[in-house]
Amino acid sequence: MAKTILVSGGAGFIGSHVTVELTQAGYNVVIADNFSNCDRTNYNGVCTILGKKLPLVEMDFCDMEAVRSLWKEYKPDAVIHFAAFKAVGESVEDPLKYYRNNLESFLNILQITREKSCNVLFSSSATVYGEPEKSPVTEQSPRQSATSPYGNTKQMCEDFLRDCVKAYEGVRGIALRYFNPIGAHPSALIGELPRGVPNNLVPYITQTAIGKRECLSIFGNDYPTEDGTCLRDYIDIVDLARAHVCAVARMLDGKMKEPYEIFNVGTGRPVSVLELVKAFEKVNGLKLNYRFAPRRSGDVVAIWADPARANEELGWKATRTVEQTLAAAWAWEKKLSE
Ligand code: UFG
Repeated sequence: MAKTILVSGGAGFIGSHVTVELTQAGYNVVIADNFSNCDRTNYNGVCTILGKKLPLVEMDFCDMEAVRSLWKEYKPDAVIHFAAFKAVGESVEDPLKYYRNNLESFLNILQITREKSCNVLFSSSATVYGEPEKSPVTEQSPRQSATSPYGNTKQMCEDFLRDCVKAYEGVRGIALRYFNPIGAHPSALIGELPRGVPNNLVPYITQTAIGKRECLSIFGNDYPTEDGTCLRDYIDIVDLARAHVCAVARMLDGKMKEPYEIFNVGTGRPVSVLELVKAFEKVNGLKLNYRFAPRRSGDVVAIWADPARANEELGWKATRTVEQTLAAAWAWEKKLSE
């Protein structure tokens, strides 16, 4: 019988893409979301792509009673936890908002997981590595102290999961450390929907190209890199989503080597901000209005993944080129303005 996967935050950018891939791989998916940071666009897009209406529970994971009734009704075999606030700057301004929401919701998930002996996949981030001494970073590279409350919640949730897996029989966990997820589904039916002015690079680029923003500011061109701009590992959102399918299968098929495992999810390729901008212009045949601006505080200079562990153990590899991904991001932006 098909296993049931609960996707918390399943109406968001990453959650919606993961829902599509899991369903296409044969899992039953239940989406739970409180719509605090997204509307129904991606949920509707997911249903259109899949040609069916997926179960959707509107709820808050900070509400333990709601969590219990969710488990009672759907009895998930595994949960993938995306439901969290994610704006670095906002977390600095209002840390309690981040600590209360991101920690409480995950503690509730761990509580029910303990009671029901469930599997947990936690969406972590390369942010836990801080400014690494060298890249590529492996899962053994040291974590640096977090530079924002948001980053702190990622580190703390990883630790909560590690400790619970160690202490409670029957609980298994995987943390996936994402590098920089970008792009959109090739159907252009789901994608990133930032509220207000985007913080992240690719939505800022696409919004500038479509005319919603006047000019992209490239934060810093005097970094110690070849072209002076920061280096990141941009991972296609569909590739990223596929890594979750591999991780879920590994958990549910009893293939884990340790009850708690961590995987980097990246391409292993560093790309500079300027290279990304130029690739966007080239693949989409347009000119982007951009200028160099002062460095953004808190940015790390360079970080990219060593994805060998995910390649070997999960049997997963990034497949899409940055050009393909940027073309998908642009198709999505155009679709939004139709
Ligand atoms: N950038 C610009 N202009 C912009 C936006 C971004 O030049 O308008 C640059 C940034 O300075 C950085 C690069 O583009 O060099 C990537 O920036 P993003 O904001 O897209 O991504 P980050 O690497 O800062 O963010 C990632 C994850 C976050 C995580 C953060 C922690 O997306 O979830 O790392 O550092 F919290």
